[in-house]
Amino acid sequence: MIFSCISIFPEIFASLTNFGVTGRAFDNNICQLQLINPRDFTSDSYKRIDDKSFGGGPGMVMKIEPLELSLNDAIVRQEKLGNNAPLRVYLSPQGQPVDQSMINQLAGHAGIIFVCGRYEGVDERFINRNIDLELSTGDFVVSGGELPAMLVMDAIIRQLPGVLNDEESAISDSFMNGLLDYPHYTQPREYEDAAVPDVLLSGNHEQIKRWRLQMSLWRTYLRRPDLLTKRNLTKLESGLLDELVVKNKQK
Ligand SMILES: C[S@@+](CC[C@H](N)C(=O)[O-])C[C@H]1O[C@@H](n2cnc3c(N)ncnc32)[C@H](O)[C@@H]1O
Repeated sequence: MIFSCISIFPEIFASLTNFGVTGRAFDNNICQLQLINPRDFTSDSYKRIDDKSFGGGPGMVMKIEPLELSLNDAIVRQEKLGNNAPLRVYLSPQGQPVDQSMINQLAGHAGIIFVCGRYEGVDERFINRNIDLELSTGDFVVSGGELPAMLVMDAIIRQLPGVLNDEESAISDSFMNGLLDYPHYTQPREYEDAAVPDVLLSGNHEQIKRWRLQMSLWRTYLRRPDLLTKRNLTKLESGLLDELVVKNKQK
C-alpha cells in the first residue's frame, strides 16, 4: 500500500511512521509514505500557498495551483511504483463520515493520496477537478487534515496482511463484527476491591467465548444501540442479549 500525503507540515507524519504498530509496518515495507509539500510547488519567493477568500470574510484559503502541482507529483510518484490509479482523498469535516466498513474498503486500494487542508480549507475548484472522495473523521473541526489523515492511515494499516501479530489481532476489535469489543482484564487477579470476573479464570473456553459475546452485545446495546439496528442478530446472540435485558429489568 502506497500512501501519499499532501501537507504543508510533513514533519507531523513522523508520529505515524516512527512508532508502534504503524511504525513497524513502514519499517517492514508493508506500506510506504510519500510526503509532498505544496510550498515546494510555488513560484514566488514567499512560497505562498494561501490567499484571502474571494467575497471577503475571515481566514485564508489554500490556492489551487500548488495543490494541483503537488497532486500531479504524487500521481507520478505512485505511477513509478507501479500504481496507476491511486484514490484521491480530501480530508474535510464536510466529507463522508469514516467508519470501519469505509476503512476496510480503503484497505483494498493499492495507493491513496490524502490532501490535508489548513486555514479555511482549499479552493473549491481543486476539489471539483481532482478529488474522488471527501472523508470526515467526525462532526468537529480540527486545524488541519494531517491528524484526520493519520487516523485513517492507522486504521487502514491495521487491516493490511502481516501488520498485526496474534496478540494484536484485530478480529475482536470494536466494529469488526458490527459490535463493540468485550471488556479486557490482566494481572493482578484482584486489585483492591476489584476482581477479574470468575469466568475468565475458569479455563472453560466455551464459557469464556459465550461470556465475551454476551458482553459485546450488552455493551453495544447500552452504548451504541444504533449499531444493533444495522446488524441482524443470530438466534444465539438475541438470546444472550435478552437474558441480560430481562435480568437488568428485574433489578
Ligand atoms: C480549520 S479546517 C477548515 C474547516 C472548514 N472551514 C469547514 O468548516 O468545513 C482546516 C482543514 O482541517 C481538515 N479538517 C478539519 N476538521 C476535519 C474533520 N472533521 N475531518 C477531516 N478533516 C478535517 C480539513 O482538511 C480542512 O481543510
